[in-house]
Amino acid sequence: MPLLIRDGEIVTADQRYHADIYIENETITAIGKDLHVPAGTEVVSAAGKLIFPGFIDPHVHIYLPFMGTFAKDTYETASVAALVGGTTTSIEMCCPSRNDDPLDSYYLWKQQAAGRSASDYAFHMAVTRFDESTEAQLREIVADGTASFKIFLSYKNFFGVDDGEMYQTLRLAKELGVIVTAHCENAELVSRLQQRLLSEGKTGPEWHEPSRPETVEAEGTTRFATFLETTGATGYVVHLSCEPALKAAVAAKARGVKISVESVLPHFLLDKTYAEREGVEGMKFVMSPPLRDQRNQAALWDALKSGEIDTVGTDHCPFDLEQKLMGKDAFTGIPNGMPGIEERVNLIYTYGVKRGGLDLHRFVDALSTRAAKLFGLYPRKGTIAVGGDADLVVYDPGYRGALSSATHLANNDYCAFDGFEIEGRPSVVTVRGKIQVRDGVFVGEQGIGQFLRRKPNLEADHAG
Ligand code: URP
Ligand code: ZN
Ligand code: ZN
Repeated sequence: MPLLIRDGEIVTADQRYHADIYIENETITAIGKDLHVPAGTEVVSAAGKLIFPGFIDPHVHIYLPFMGTFAKDTYETASVAALVGGTTTSIEMCCPSRNDDPLDSYYLWKQQAAGRSASDYAFHMAVTRFDESTEAQLREIVADGTASFKIFLSYKNFFGVDDGEMYQTLRLAKELGVIVTAHCENAELVSRLQQRLLSEGKTGPEWHEPSRPETVEAEGTTRFATFLETTGATGYVVHLSCEPALKAAVAAKARGVKISVESVLPHFLLDKTYAEREGVEGMKFVMSPPLRDQRNQAALWDALKSGEIDTVGTDHCPFDLEQKLMGKDAFTGIPNGMPGIEERVNLIYTYGVKRGGLDLHRFVDALSTRAAKLFGLYPRKGTIAVGGDADLVVYDPGYRGALSSATHLANNDYCAFDGFEIEGRPSVVTVRGKIQVRDGVFVGEQGIGQFLRRKPNLEADHAG
């Protein structure tokens, strides 16, 4: 059935105006004032509401075997949580371990999502080793529509690649015209510091941050930038958490390195004192890079406002408290990660736009448009335009509420932002024209989410 969203205020990365939006066959077919309503059209009133392009989370983990366990979500649970929070497209990290076959893993990850997601999705393919078979496999994966890679400079012997493997991955990415996303922490230093702290009897979650200090992340970011510069590849730093790493990325950008920066929700709002709480209360907040000293938050917000931070993702990676307790005797056993897929949009809107002076267009850019452009989804996603997918968030800026572990929808037993106030939430969320959410409730259909095939969208180096 056609859908008309009437009388809303459309806000994109560069425009703000009042108009109606008419949707037919999953796409936006008209935008204008007082549009004619053909018989049989469903009408949604958006008077007093903002209409944003569907938000894109460029960094999530849904199916993830990691640290001796599995992240808790499934596509059914994560996609519903995402949609209720206004995220209509997620890009999941497909993360085989070094011992897994990359191609088999890629199809396994796709299988986890196929027919089970309520929202659209894509993948970044993690390259966790580079041997004789890797190149052909990666070519097949890119040809299948997964046109971005992921490397880990951390997690030694599990996901981590060495410098030679990073070089080979970047060379291939440059040849294929795909972007490489990177977790930038020095694996060797983390491993040495972990061993030292444990040998000194420092076993609690409060030691997680000192085992991966800011310098370790700055080194990883600098090294990644140097490798990008040398190979000419295009890169994207994931979950950048601190000022020294930010300075490294900004300096690289300034000298012409093709590098973009993502920071993730927890680093804007939570600091390392959360992980210093006693026992499992602290373990809830163990992620990597770790929650940092609070002084970094102002630097991240400023960089988000100025555009030095390109995107805001979540690094959604939920575990239950029982899983967190796997690290009760040693912080190195605490599964790294926390949920956030549902909370990102409302929290950045509240603490950024409403309370922090973040420009509304930059908000849309950082949480939707820029990711669409960087990862080959634009203009199908990431904006509101005739011909684009009708992924829309009718947003109620008058809503007032608070987040709660009792009501959050990710499939784990705590919300990392329990008690945080929100000023605004999605009122109606559509996925390709289908209403999936009304006022905090999933009212739609499971399984309609599509795998988004992306083409390499960078200048490729055919010389190889
Ligand atoms: O702590 C985190 N970030 N867990 C998920 C894996 C990763 O490094 O992104
Ligand atoms: Zn990571
Ligand atoms: Zn991650």
